[in-house]
Amino acid sequence: MDEQKEIRILAIESSCDETAAAVVVNGRDVRSNVISSQIPLHTLYGGVVPEIASRKHIEKINLVIEQALSDAGMTLAEIDAIGVTYGPGLIGALLVGVAEAKAISYAAKIPLVGVHHIEGHISANYIENKDLEPPFLCLVVSGGHTHLVRVCDYGRYEILGRTRDDAAGEAFDKVARAIGLGYPGGPKIEKIAKEGNPEAIAFPRAKVSGGAYDFSFSGLKSAVLNYLNGCRMKNLPICEADVAASFQQSVTDVLVEHAMRAVEEYGMDKFAIAGGVAANGTIRSAMKAACEKKGVRFYHPSPILCTDNAAMIGTAAYYDFIAGRRSGLDLNAVANLKLGES
Ligand code: KG4
Ligand code: ZN
Repeated sequence: MDEQKEIRILAIESSCDETAAAVVVNGRDVRSNVISSQIPLHTLYGGVVPEIASRKHIEKINLVIEQALSDAGMTLAEIDAIGVTYGPGLIGALLVGVAEAKAISYAAKIPLVGVHHIEGHISANYIENKDLEPPFLCLVVSGGHTHLVRVCDYGRYEILGRTRDDAAGEAFDKVARAIGLGYPGGPKIEKIAKEGNPEAIAFPRAKVSGGAYDFSFSGLKSAVLNYLNGCRMKNLPICEADVAASFQQSVTDVLVEHAMRAVEEYGMDKFAIAGGVAANGTIRSAMKAACEKKGVRFYHPSPILCTDNAAMIGTAAYYDFIAGRRSGLDLNAVANLKLGES
């Protein structure tokens, strides 16, 4: 029998506040996925402190990589390529992963593949949806990004829209802080929103002129802050659950409206969601319902593959690797790396 060679990628992710490593075989078979989260540490400061993030990555990175290899039952000698996030993200945090990947690549003579973080988030959809192939439309919503992307092929993307100001996750985090829920805001807003009425407060649904698919969340965030300040000044009671539910509904409506308009205009029959905010149950259900109405297949990763992880980086690196793309030992971290830019 013709035995096909397995391609084994060791992937590293350190762009923000998770130190992560994974082993992914043939792009979609995750053999290990180790995530060391710094969230409890940053919670003390109400958000990610870049200097602390870099230091923690340095402390954890070797342990996390060793754990990923051991969970996969593999040694470096069995790895075909190292995939690493080289941007966008916090520069000091990215540098830790990139330096580590380059050192392993050099010492063990293993090819290196630099991966774009958003390409990783999009690729998370391939892991549990073995049938998913481009072309499809993907909405990437995280703490740093809100991008509506047409995935034309593996490694080929067209950005249809992006946020003009705050990312969707950033808006969740800022509103959560204003209500007094703490960091990270997304899961906390989602939790208390379950007790609230999404129609209690009419927060705005921003339309952006000049970019059909662009987003803006800073006006919504200001509207929530103004509402809270207004209540406090007038000594009116604030129902946090109603504020959270109404805010979440406003974000959901805008995301769904943009996504479905693009699905229609581009005649897409597959739609995927990715990034930390894609873990949100209300957003997922609304997207699913909207897709079903249009006869469009809806894809989403499990919550653990929505937030930052290295398995998604391994998947993206695999498709780059089989397309012949390699990075040199001069690979550098790029804080504001654009999608589709190498
Ligand atoms: O993808 P991610 O881990 O990191 C970035 O690349 O930014 O996303 C983190 C973001 C945070 O803003 C967090 O509040 C948000 O994702 N998030 C959520 C949920 N879980 C995480 N937002 C809404 N609902 C959630 N359940
Ligand atoms: Zn991310």
